[in-house]
Amino acid sequence: MITSDILSDSHKYIMNTYSRQPLVLVKGRGVKVFDSDGREYLDFVSGVAVNNLGHCHPRVVVAIQKQAQRLMHVSNHFHNEPQINLAKALVSNSFADKAFFCNSGTEAIEAAIKLARRYSREVLKQDRYEIITMRGSFHGRTMGALTATAQEKFHKGFEPVVPGFRYVPFDDIPAVEHAVNEHTCAILVEPVQGEGGVNVPSAGYLKALRDICDKNNILLMLDEIQTGMGRTGKLFGYEHEGITPDVAAIAKGLGSGMPIGAIISTDKAAQGLTPGSHGSTFGGNPLACAAALASLETLLEDNIIIQAVEQNGRHFMERLEHLKEKHSFIKVVRGKGLLIGMELDVPGKDIVSACLKEGFLINCTMDTVLRFMPPLIITTEEIDQLVDVLGTIFEKR
Ligand SMILES: Cc1ncc(COP(=O)(O)O)c(C=O)c1O
Repeated sequence: MITSDILSDSHKYIMNTYSRQPLVLVKGRGVKVFDSDGREYLDFVSGVAVNNLGHCHPRVVVAIQKQAQRLMHVSNHFHNEPQINLAKALVSNSFADKAFFCNSGTEAIEAAIKLARRYSREVLKQDRYEIITMRGSFHGRTMGALTATAQEKFHKGFEPVVPGFRYVPFDDIPAVEHAVNEHTCAILVEPVQGEGGVNVPSAGYLKALRDICDKNNILLMLDEIQTGMGRTGKLFGYEHEGITPDVAAIAKGLGSGMPIGAIISTDKAAQGLTPGSHGSTFGGNPLACAAALASLETLLEDNIIIQAVEQNGRHFMERLEHLKEKHSFIKVVRGKGLLIGMELDVPGKDIVSACLKEGFLINCTMDTVLRFMPPLIITTEEIDQLVDVLGTIFEKR
């Protein structure tokens, strides 16, 4: 089928919820993807921070193939080994004691919201239900996660939103202190805001939030959906700050492309989630868990990838900083590891299209922030290739 026909069928049969590039991707290997006309691209989007190990990592592919031949799905009325092994690996490599599995980031946030309310009601026996979230956050599209997302543009037309959320500015500790009241059960925050424009809070922010939570007996819940699985140079974003949360929501890079999400939690915070209180048909199914376990093991092996993220992230930022010195329309470069934003004082859409023409996939968020989140296996040379192309595009503006 020729590309124009595929695109025409896409417009005809698929709901119009995304503004997509006119590109049909058919194959991926490592950092490269290929379109239906055989063109090759270097991928600095990674399916929005999902393909952290690159496309079709051989170890993940083999794990999926083996598991698909053995057992793909069983109900959570029964135990399955890949789910248990994945939970064990996540617990061994984090602050957490327990995991709950679902299928996406937004579902992980729903689970976190439910955990927090149940903990307050059933364990603390208090009338606490309110969750404090941060302006500019993004937590997902289902109604609870959508309401947690403190950006009204995402709520528009879907009201009424869910009661029990309070919004405060990001990176503003006095505002959080002021917002806490006798009904607060949790604070939910991204260690680095991704969709909100790659906003990195001041050093000590998570620690100060941890202190507020401890003082008021409320849960600190981190949305590590974008920052987790090595993206910032550590397995989880909180590790940079020397604190531990009570709960973390993860998804995206967890399955290297296999849809899976989870919350990981301390035993204490998880107490309220008793049998029948929450669940998911597909959550923790053997196929997704086998893929996630192979991904996690690969990511952790000798720490190689995570170390490379720190080094390449620094190099990438330095090179983007050089571009900033040359071009006054670049306002700021910021990020952590390989989650990097470049804020412009003009819309970034045309630059995304220009990069595409040159064979590079990049992303733009909040209209003016170019966002770079390549696979963690990207090389310095590949980063240089993109920055050189960006330099040429910027010169022509
Ligand atoms: C920080 C964060 N939380 C939650 C989500 C929602 O995840 P999903 O699209 O898998 O539901 C996203 C997705 O971009 C995200 O970046």
